[in-house]
Amino acid sequence: MSENLEPPLSAIRSEVSAMRRSYGESGLNEADLDQNPIVQFSKWLIEAAANPFIVEANAMVLSTVHDGQPTSRTVLLKDVTENGFTFFTNYESAKGIDLATNPNLSILFPWYAMERQVIVLGSAKKIPRDESDAYFATRPWSSQIGAWASKQSKRLDSRETLQSAYSELASRYPEGAKVPTPPNWGGYLIAPTNIEFWQGRYSRLHDRVRYVRTHDNAAKTQWKLERFYP
Ligand SMILES: Cc1cc2nc3c(=O)[nH]c(=O)nc-3n(C[C@H](O)[C@H](O)[C@H](O)COP(=O)(O)O)c2cc1C
Repeated sequence: MSENLEPPLSAIRSEVSAMRRSYGESGLNEADLDQNPIVQFSKWLIEAAANPFIVEANAMVLSTVHDGQPTSRTVLLKDVTENGFTFFTNYESAKGIDLATNPNLSILFPWYAMERQVIVLGSAKKIPRDESDAYFATRPWSSQIGAWASKQSKRLDSRETLQSAYSELASRYPEGAKVPTPPNWGGYLIAPTNIEFWQGRYSRLHDRVRYVRTHDNAAKTQWKLERFYP
C-alpha cells in the first residue's frame, strides 16, 4: 500500500493498527459444552439475541465459492433444527448460482460484543417448496413485493427501474391480496459438518473448540469435540 495516502485513509491506518481490546475471563470448558453442537449453538444464539449490544443476532456471513474465488455476504438465519441452518434468498442470485455448482459453504456468526464467533462448514440444498411458501407468507407485504421486484445480483441501470418494477408489482398484488412466492425465491438448508465455537480470553489465549461430524455404525450423526490452538 502507498505510504503517501490522502486523508481520511492516512488517519485511519494508524488508528486501525492500534485498535485492540482485552478479552474477558469467561471461558469455554469441554465439561460445560453440550454434546450436541446444535444445542450449544442455540444456547449462544439465545444469549446473543438477549444482548443489547448485538444487533441482529441471527445475521450471519455466508461464504460461497465461484470459480475458486470465495465471496461473502450477510444473510439472516431463519431456522435452526437438528438438520441444520436455514436462510432464504433468490435462487438466481450470485450465491444461488455458486451453490448450484458448488454446495459447499461457510457461515460465520460475528458476535463481537460477547467476544464470540461461531463458524459452520457444511453444504446447502434447497428446502421443499411448501416450506418456502409457508415462510414467504409470513413476510411483510412490502418485502414480498420487494422479492418479486428484485432480480437480485443482476446489473441494474438505475434505481428508478427498480422503483417502477416495485410499483407495477404493488398494483398487480395490492396490499391485503395473497402474494405468491416468486418461483426463483426460497430457502436453503445448510447441513453442518463442522461447527467451531470461539470465545475470546485474556492474553490472546482464546478458547477454540470444534465439533466434527462423524457417524456411528447405524449412520447416526455423532460429533467429535476437538480443541484448537487460538
Ligand atoms: C443484515 C443483513 C441481512 C441480510 N439478509 C439477507 C437475506 O436473508 N437474504 C438475502 O438474500 N440477502 C440478504 N442480505 C443482502 C445480502 O448481503 C446480499 O447483498 C444479497 O443477498 C446479494 O448477494 P449475492 O449477490 O452475493 O448473491 C442481507 C444484508 C444484510 C446487511
